Amino acid sequence: MSKNVTLAELDEDDQSLVGKALAASANAYAPYSGFAVGAAVRTKGGNVYVGANIENAAYAVVICAEVSAVAGANAAGDFNLEAIAVVGHKFRPPEDASQVVTPCGRCRQVIFEASEIADTDVRVLSCSGDLKEIRKSTISELLPDAFGPKTLGLAEVWPKMRAVLRATVEKLRAGVDLVLAK
Ligand code: THU
Repeated sequence: MSKNVTLAELDEDDQSLVGKALAASANAYAPYSGFAVGAAVRTKGGNVYVGANIENAAYAVVICAEVSAVAGANAAGDFNLEAIAVVGHKFRPPEDASQVVTPCGRCRQVIFEASEIADTDVRVLSCSGDLKEIRKSTISELLPDAFGPKTLGLAEVWPKMRAVLRATVEKLRAGVDLVLAK
């Protein structure tokens, strides 16, 4: 069940995750909305990857903080998500850091994909910028009856496909003289 919690009620790892999401919001590139969002994901191995929103003069091209953080985990080959914290606040006058920011619909779908691949109902900590309001949920609560890789029978197959992919890349790398990438 989703519930409101205080920062002090979170365990040390989740407090740290929320703190990293808040810190990441300082790196938002958000000149159009004046709304900064930071996200931090923790994987089963205990690693943390952060992200911030990136806006664009072509407004619809925006990348949300959650997508940026999840992409960072995947790019590091560490896609086994366990938890994600999201913190947002207005930084243009009138500044406001009192509203809880929950992941947008597209971000929920992205987190859900990772959750089925990790076979974990990923914890989502949605926070106000001042961290006075924190909503603790799981991704299945935020996106019930979701469509995902399990629907397509792919969650079970992906580890084998990934092994094939990695072997292919090893062969490709062995075939070229990459002085810097070794
Ligand atoms: N934003 C996020 O980064 N994550 C969300 O889940 C909600 C919205 C960003 C997108 C845009 O740069 C700004 O917040 C205002 O919508």
